[in-house]
Amino acid sequence: MKKVLIVYWSGTGNTEVMAKQVAKGVSDAGAELVLKKAAEATAGMVKEAAALAFGCPAMGAEILEEAEMEPFVSALSKEELDGKPLGLFGSYDWGDGQWMRDWAERMKAMGALVDGEGLITQLAPTEETLNKCYELGKRLAG
Ligand SMILES: Cc1cc2nc3c(=O)[nH]c(=O)nc-3n(C[C@H](O)[C@H](O)[C@H](O)COP(=O)(O)O)c2cc1C
Repeated sequence: MKKVLIVYWSGTGNTEVMAKQVAKGVSDAGAELVLKKAAEATAGMVKEAAALAFGCPAMGAEILEEAEMEPFVSALSKEELDGKPLGLFGSYDWGDGQWMRDWAERMKAMGALVDGEGLITQLAPTEETLNKCYELGKRLAG
């Protein structure tokens, strides 16, 4: 069975809701789901998975959350990411999505096959965004 790893960080729950919806798409498509918060995730888990989804809101000034998500992402290299499908998602508020553009470029530079431009939503995800999260999960599982 195809293993899909979802790793996320969320402070006030918006990105977490997205993560759970991606997870539902993965499970409904019949793949093996591993859902982890960033603090519990390791590069070894990324290496073992066939497809990936990472979620983090825009923090600081258009960067990833620094205490848990950034260390997780920093520990990754081409070895774990090269040629692997990767869905990126997250919530933001007052910015224009710069953190996601930077993150997508960073992951592509390590060989990840980033799905689209990353899935972003202002504050709480709408029904439409949740559907996109679900579809992302299904694509990653397929
Ligand atoms: C410390 C902090 C820094 C933030 N920095 C940004 C930012 O640079 N750009 C932006 O668009 N939103 C920024 N936000 C807003 C969050 O991205 C937004 O509230 C998001 O919905 C939080 O997602 P979460 O509920 O998954 O934690 C920041 C919020 C906090 C608390």
